[in-house]
Amino acid sequence: MLPGVKNCCKFNYIRVLKITVGNVPLLIHSIKKMKKIQLVDLNGQYEKIKDEIDAAILNVVRSSAFINGPEVAAFQKDLEKYLEVQNVIPCANGTDALQIALMALDVKPGDEVITPSFTYIATAEVIALLHLKPVFADVDPDTFTIKPGEVEKLISANTKAIIPVHLYGLCADMEPILKIAEKNNIAVIEDAAQALGSVYTFSDGTKKKAGTMGTIGCTSFFPSKNLGAFGDGGAIFTNDDSLAKKIRMVSNHGQSEKYIHDIIGVNSRLDSIQAAILRIKLKYLDQYVSARNNAAAYYDKAFINLRGFQIPARFEKSNHGFHQYTLKLNGVNRNDLLKYCEQKGIPANVYYPIPIHLQNGFKNLDQRQGDLSVTEDLMEKVISLPMHTELSEDQLKYICDSIVEFSEKKSTVFV
Ligand SMILES: Cc1ncc(COP(=O)(O)O)c(C=O)c1O
Repeated sequence: MLPGVKNCCKFNYIRVLKITVGNVPLLIHSIKKMKKIQLVDLNGQYEKIKDEIDAAILNVVRSSAFINGPEVAAFQKDLEKYLEVQNVIPCANGTDALQIALMALDVKPGDEVITPSFTYIATAEVIALLHLKPVFADVDPDTFTIKPGEVEKLISANTKAIIPVHLYGLCADMEPILKIAEKNNIAVIEDAAQALGSVYTFSDGTKKKAGTMGTIGCTSFFPSKNLGAFGDGGAIFTNDDSLAKKIRMVSNHGQSEKYIHDIIGVNSRLDSIQAAILRIKLKYLDQYVSARNNAAAYYDKAFINLRGFQIPARFEKSNHGFHQYTLKLNGVNRNDLLKYCEQKGIPANVYYPIPIHLQNGFKNLDQRQGDLSVTEDLMEKVISLPMHTELSEDQLKYICDSIVEFSEKKSTVFV
């Protein structure tokens, strides 16, 4: 603070200053406004690379190559290089990516697919949509990702695939999952929608990027994702060339040659404008992941010793992409905290409030409360704080100070 300038009082977003020269008060106040906190600040991110993005969009508009244009092919190559994977097949969104991956595996109605219930609905929805049976495995209470031991217990003669989800940006424990799959001759489809840019380290020191370890990997470029488009987008990855050929066919109307349709497929394309935007943003992905980690480190420091608040676990085998920064509340009333955050202008959210096995859409599976005790317990306790690449120090401080203040009001905190 400059000499003669006194911080008189501090409101949520406004700092009022009194400026004096000698003993004479000159200016009563000046106002410094903190930028409104958003769950995701896409505009702030865009502003920093505006010139590159605007030029890339204009280039596609001028070329009129809107579908399957050169930008799509170039993005595919760039992403293959970044991920160190043999084949990237872009598609329309992350849900399609999962559906196409399953279709490429020649599944038949009744086949079983093991997946967590603690995930976004899309993971399990595509299984049901293809008349396959989702078999839900419980998750690890610390990492929140599918527990290999639970997967193993659920393998049956009908198991066709396992879909681990790299939840919130942390890779599931892939090494034992891949071993279980190999032993039982079943496929692994990674749902890497929340973890593009995360890296898993195997016991021999080999490092692989999320989405490139299993038989097939899938991701989403939904705008809020770590690599987000300006609309929908997705991609499928595989190191198996013959599977890649099949995936390309499935995603393009089952077409092997022009107007020759050997199998039933779907129409799922990444459009050229999105590909052009993603090509630019891919160059910044590692920076984005690191900005998310910096914000997470700030949160950690504030909450590590806060009673009732458990910071996100780190996992020695995977770095964290921090798609979400998710606290686990122990004894803290989540609804009260959500209401308090809303009053304070802090957009907090719950990903996800109801486990998939207890959703009405999955009633036919006849699953009950208590079937997946860790998942059910976590889903009542998790809360995610604003997490994106543009969080400023004053915003982080404001969020942390506010939550600490909430925790100090003991009467409203512990239930
Ligand atoms: C874990 C997970 N899987 C799949 C999807 C589906 O992706 P999309 O919204 O692009 O269809 C999402 C998106 O939110 C996700 O978080």
